[in-house]
Amino acid sequence: IPLVHQQENKKTEQLESFVAQSVGKEMSSNTGVKINDDQNSLKAGDRGQTLLEDFLLREKITHFDHERIPERVVHARGSGAHGVFKVYEDMSAFTKAAFLCDPTVETPVFVRFSTVAGSRGSTDLARDVRGFAVKFYTQEGNFDLVGNNMPIFFIQDAVKFPDLVHAVKPEPDNEIPQAASAHDTFWDFISHMPESSAMIMWLMSDRALPRSYRMMEGFGVHTFRLINASGTSSFVKFHWKPLLGVHSVAWDEAQVISGKDPDFHRRDLWDAIEAGAFPEWELGVQIVPEEDESKYGFDLLDPTKLIPEELVPVQRIGKMTLNRNPENFFAETEQVAFHVGHVVPGIDFTNDPLLQGRLFSYTDTQLIRLGGPNFQEIPINRPVVPVHNNQRDGYMRQTINRGKTSYGPNGIAENDPHQVTAADGGYVSHNERIDAQKIRARSRSFFDHFSQARLFLNSQSDAEKNHLLDAFSFELGKVKMVQIRERMLALLAHVDAGLAAEVAYALGLSVPNISLTELNGSIPADADKASYTPEQVKE
Ligand code: HEM
Repeated sequence: IPLVHQQENKKTEQLESFVAQSVGKEMSSNTGVKINDDQNSLKAGDRGQTLLEDFLLREKITHFDHERIPERVVHARGSGAHGVFKVYEDMSAFTKAAFLCDPTVETPVFVRFSTVAGSRGSTDLARDVRGFAVKFYTQEGNFDLVGNNMPIFFIQDAVKFPDLVHAVKPEPDNEIPQAASAHDTFWDFISHMPESSAMIMWLMSDRALPRSYRMMEGFGVHTFRLINASGTSSFVKFHWKPLLGVHSVAWDEAQVISGKDPDFHRRDLWDAIEAGAFPEWELGVQIVPEEDESKYGFDLLDPTKLIPEELVPVQRIGKMTLNRNPENFFAETEQVAFHVGHVVPGIDFTNDPLLQGRLFSYTDTQLIRLGGPNFQEIPINRPVVPVHNNQRDGYMRQTINRGKTSYGPNGIAENDPHQVTAADGGYVSHNERIDAQKIRARSRSFFDHFSQARLFLNSQSDAEKNHLLDAFSFELGKVKMVQIRERMLALLAHVDAGLAAEVAYALGLSVPNISLTELNGSIPADADKASYTPEQVKE
């Protein structure tokens, strides 16, 4: 294995201390008793029953019986790799995050790429979104950039995520089909969800069939904040730009590959790293000063919108190189726990309602997936900096905390963990002013559902447009209920009448005229024309 950078890679050193060196060693039980015979159970005579007292048999089988943990509720199939990240130049004008301010600092990373809908054993080349999750093990704690290979999302509010995923996953009665984009429940949901229009264009495009994980872009999707040392906040969208360029396969190729080698992307990533052809991405940022929040005619808090690169160019600020394969799939790729809420000083959230819900969801799911509150102690999840606090105990606790107290403030222990000021690196949330009434509704600035779907369609070459048309025709052709096909045609007509007509022709249907409000009752009648800026909403 090429071990470039390994000597000074703190995460690699830390993981090394957990590795079991069993080669050539005497076999023993989990209680340390040397084993004399691991192949025969203890029996009553030559041909008699197996004895309950056989603790070696019981231990071996019990452990095996408990080997599986639940797969991720989404993004279950994934592949991981270790690497390093280095910023090109000091970004302190925008952020105080130390790993983005010092070009001499090399930050270890672990990346997990994934499909979204399929189960752990499903094919790599499904027509699907790809996850692109990066954990930076910085000197100020872990920062996770938990993104996808598409810059926008299906829904605007996390409260709809369980509905989206229930619609995407195999149907509950017979667990058919595996293919997310080829069934009635998925398209039924989408046809009721005009806010998905732009994402559906991306999903039916070549972007959903990457040639390789090494040839995918990545996006943080939401607008985040960068905060500098004087407390100034700028909005930011994060990007990953692959140095090999963006490449896709055609749908016919995808289907053949899925049949012949369902591990196509996993194998490609593994083999490239083994061969020393290390995949590389540049980290890009689109930075928007706070005062420009209302400049673009759409809401920066709306996760179904991207910021066109023509309006705000992507600045390439650093490079990530993946240079080492995991040693143990379960210990690393399966047990890694990413979370949009893992931020370091200098990076903060916005009020994007999808992001806000994600901030709850990841820890919550990991508590069950990884068996309790101590999953940050699992080797792949540990930060490379020490952890000191008054949290204690719980299932599978590894740390032995010393002393009589686990609370603060207290007058008994002399060397309690103490809080630190912002100047000493303590995390301080951005002091955004909030003055509002509680309201369970969507902002009017979130109702422009089609302009970016059109923007994407018009950005496609003729060949790409044909792929898009073929994809809609193929996938909707799998939908059994004709009313769902028709609702989808009506929705497409709101995006582009020509596209809707061509898909309708392929399906042997005509395009019905269904208003937006009929498609989704929560959308006001004039929503199609709406392009409110946050400024107008305030008025
Ligand atoms: C997992 C991205 C929206 C809940 C993931 C993963 C990625 C991802 C990349 C896989 C992480 C890994 O490799 O382990 C995104 C993006 C979103 C989004 C880019 C939208 C911009 C949401 C929302 C929710 C959610 C709205 C819930 C309200 C989850 C859950 C997992 C997950 C529960 C499984 C995590 C685990 O078991 O460790 N997401 N997601 N995601 N996501 Fe999201």
